[in-house]
Amino acid sequence: MERILIIGAAGQIGSELTLELRKIYGNSNVFATDVKDAPADIKESGPFQLLDVMDDKHLIHFVIRNKITQIYHLAAVLSGNAEKLPTQAWHINMDSLMNILEVAKLVEDVRKVFWPSSIAVFGNSTPKTGTPQLTVMEPSTVYGISKLAGERWCEYYHKRYNIDIRSLRYPGLISYKTEPGGGTTDWAVEIYFEAVRKKSYNCFLSEDVSLPMMFMEDAINATIKLMETDKANLACHSSYNITGPSLTPRQVAVDIRRHIPGFDITYHPDFRQSIAESWPSSIDDSELRTSIIWKPRFDLQQITDSMIEEIRNKV
Ligand SMILES: NC(=O)c1ccc[n+]([C@@H]2O[C@H](COP(=O)([O-])OP(=O)(O)OC[C@H]3O[C@@H](n4cnc5c(N)ncnc54)[C@H](O)[C@@H]3O)[C@@H](O)[C@H]2O)c1
Repeated sequence: MERILIIGAAGQIGSELTLELRKIYGNSNVFATDVKDAPADIKESGPFQLLDVMDDKHLIHFVIRNKITQIYHLAAVLSGNAEKLPTQAWHINMDSLMNILEVAKLVEDVRKVFWPSSIAVFGNSTPKTGTPQLTVMEPSTVYGISKLAGERWCEYYHKRYNIDIRSLRYPGLISYKTEPGGGTTDWAVEIYFEAVRKKSYNCFLSEDVSLPMMFMEDAINATIKLMETDKANLACHSSYNITGPSLTPRQVAVDIRRHIPGFDITYHPDFRQSIAESWPSSIDDSELRTSIIWKPRFDLQQITDSMIEEIRNKV
């Protein structure tokens, strides 16, 4: 029987992934944890506890006491926030991952770990379109540097200690449940909320910057599929490329006008513009698609339809 620990369960991904995993593995077998309070449905449907992943002693006690077999480590400082506090972001992103890798090494019951990387591992010298799985990687942000270093550590622990750690280089994730946590692709969530609330949005990127994106439902399905796939089918032990549609703010704004004809968008690029420009505009994820036999379901129109409907229900 699997007993799953989610670290960062109150965040954009964790708040949805926890509920999906509880449907599959049973509510009482999925332990949600975070340093902040979680949404009511997470606390009401199964165990939730405050836990700081930086506190390695509490972490290992928690894992042993609850007989944890799988860990999803989702806590991180995201790209936009990391540029404001580079040394703290490096400390949190790296030390938290090292704590998890050490727990996986020391506690025999822990058989699998999931840790997300990001398209931020790529940089200005990476091919911009159809970015392949293996390519030049010279990230220019502290977030990207920490994710690339994390990928190397994951592969190292796999090779040296035979730890089964699985990872995806998520693109920008679009969801309606929880506000995004300070990344460069947050505009692709904010634009829908502001369209419904105010019929206008002031975008922090320019109109034609294209970035790889993915609807949260697709990201969660791929994550669970990756974790359930037989280890023998997985060739990559650092992190797999993954993507949905590549989108610009202008394309999303035009699509929103199918539902909200008067929607108005203005563009005032800030420091995140140069981060976005250093990332790929499209990704080749064919290696993942063959390894786990998966493809995304949501294109731009389906994302817009779901976002507008769900946000209207919410607000
Ligand atoms: N959301 C995206 O678009 C995206 C894209 C690429 C990669 N990722 C990666 O996916 C992971 C989750 O991202 P997210 O968008 O859900 O982030 P988020 O910021 O929404 O959530 C992270 C959660 O971790 C918690 N946390 C922070 N410090 C902690 C600590 N010391 N101990 C325990 N919990 C702590 C936060 O309170 C928060 O609830 C991160 O590793 C992120 O880099 C996300």
